[in-house]
Amino acid sequence: MLVLGIESSCDETALALVRDGALSDAVLASQADMHALFGGVVPELASREHCRFIGPLFDELMRRTGTRPADIDVVAVSRGPGLLGSLLVGTAFAKGLCLGTGARLLGVNHLMGHLLAAGLSEKLEFPALGLLVSGGHTNIYYFGSAVKALQLGRTIDDAAGEAFDKTGKILGLAYPGGRLLDTLARRGRADAKLFPRPYLDNDNLDFSFSGLKTAVSLYVKEHFADEPWPHPLQNPDDAPQGLCDLCASFNLAVVDTLLAKVRRAMKRYPGVRNLIMAGGVAANSLLRERVTELMERAGGKAFMPPLSLCTDNAAMIAYAGWLYASEGFCHDLSMETIPRGRPIPDDYLHVPL
Ligand code: KG4
Ligand code: ZN
Repeated sequence: MLVLGIESSCDETALALVRDGALSDAVLASQADMHALFGGVVPELASREHCRFIGPLFDELMRRTGTRPADIDVVAVSRGPGLLGSLLVGTAFAKGLCLGTGARLLGVNHLMGHLLAAGLSEKLEFPALGLLVSGGHTNIYYFGSAVKALQLGRTIDDAAGEAFDKTGKILGLAYPGGRLLDTLARRGRADAKLFPRPYLDNDNLDFSFSGLKTAVSLYVKEHFADEPWPHPLQNPDDAPQGLCDLCASFNLAVVDTLLAKVRRAMKRYPGVRNLIMAGGVAANSLLRERVTELMERAGGKAFMPPLSLCTDNAAMIAYAGWLYASEGFCHDLSMETIPRGRPIPDDYLHVPL
């Protein structure tokens, strides 16, 4: 089965071909440099750029792989969450292609795409928990199978990545601060008592990180008022030891908090020994180490996509589409595009294979 994946939910226009569950080829145009000029993604510019890029990228992918549009069995497209105008470019393109070629349409939840991407490099095992930790989301799921996910919890304020980036900003680190903060944390000594493990005093699986950022802000005002380092800090070698120690303490607080809720989810689903983790914060070195240890101790495994598949890409959409299509799922051309903030409906059609 040949699946074309299309991703246009934010600022990357990407297309990829997955044949029988394996990646054939992928093309991508990033708009990151353009949006950086404005300090964040400008939605109207993003959709215009998707319009400009999507056709030529499709032609390039067809040419490079010697594929004809009629060879495509399934067109899988990111249907949300994301920027509505950007998503519409991808879904309209996908629908037109399906209309013209008779391929099946499959709308993929972009977040499932991120998690399932780990299956492109190793065979996933189910049941599993899913932990999605990105700049926009901190969600925890129960996966009965690759195509059956139940959301157990989410952040009620800042996402984990947002907590890293906002803390980075307080500390004068270059934006987005997550990766640099991770680097500095590795050079520091963590004080486990310095910052709180927020929102654990309850029995749910939701997260809240906004208070942690305030705790850092107060600590910095009190202890670092006169400590000089270049703003914005880009080179880790310019960071004083005190700053590295603070980063280590903050990093540990976030990781401990995420792990506490994963352990709680494991208690609720005692048969689950596997965990799939994805999103930009899944690149965090301490989080990767701790999650791997935890699942190994439970007799299972932590699955994480390679770093190359952690950012937005179309291979993950094509692969998730292949998983769903292999179970006989698809959509018809009335499939809705879902902007950020609205739940993605479970409205697949089931057609005999
Ligand atoms: O999934 P992602 O690429 O995109 C969005 O959701 O926008 O996640 C980006 C986030 C940013 O907040 C970034 O600071 C964070 O992931 N991030 C990290 C690390 N690498 C990226 N956070 C902590 N440690 C890292 N190593
Ligand atoms: Zn994404």
